[in-house]
Amino acid sequence: MKPIISASILSSDFSNLADQIHQAEDAGVDWIHVDVMDGSFVPNISMGPFIVETCKRITRLPLDVHLMIEKPERHLRSFADAGASYLTVQVEASTHLNRTLEAIRELGCKPGVAINPSTNETSLSYVLDQVEMVLVMTVNPGYSGQVFIPSMVAKIARVNGMLADARSNALLQVDGGINEKTIRMAQAAGSNCFVAASAIFGNRNGIGEGVRSLRNCLDSE
Ligand code: DX5
Ligand code: ZN
Repeated sequence: MKPIISASILSSDFSNLADQIHQAEDAGVDWIHVDVMDGSFVPNISMGPFIVETCKRITRLPLDVHLMIEKPERHLRSFADAGASYLTVQVEASTHLNRTLEAIRELGCKPGVAINPSTNETSLSYVLDQVEMVLVMTVNPGYSGQVFIPSMVAKIARVNGMLADARSNALLQVDGGINEKTIRMAQAAGSNCFVAASAIFGNRNGIGEGVRSLRNCLDSE
């Protein structure tokens, strides 16, 4: 499959959001990643359903919504109504994860599940048959511009093995510190879906160049 690049708008210029998204889209980005933070599960506060709805009016690209919030089940409907395609919740934040993932599917979205760097991947084992995507966080969530944690390469490979053993077609996404170097490491370990914020929106040669330089690092099967 062609690797998926999901552009995280967390480090975009919000005063020109439509133009920034269109530049990423024109350069061939596949999805738009929206980072939702509540100031509790993670220290930072970012965006809510209103921004998802705004993105929906700006682009037809799938909206990949990453919920870094406590008790995400309280807000699933708002994000589904706002136009989310993928809704990804953190395993650490949802007590009844099985029910939460089922609710996402019932709302018509594709369920995803994310694990923090210090969370053991075995926490995924009972939900692999319910998800369309597993997200291995390669930084501690909360901010863009952080450094990729090297020990996550082996974790990506282990999760890739778990997906194969479960005969799952779920995507294996990585998020945090993805740049020209780390994207190759992540792909070699088995990832096929790559989130990037600062490497795209902070590229000194422009957003389009940010997307193209990441794409050029990937083998497309
Ligand atoms: C981190 C967010 C990421 C973040 C990535 O908490 O989940 O999506 O925007 O930013 P970069 O690519 O700059 O590490
Ligand atoms: Zn994210």
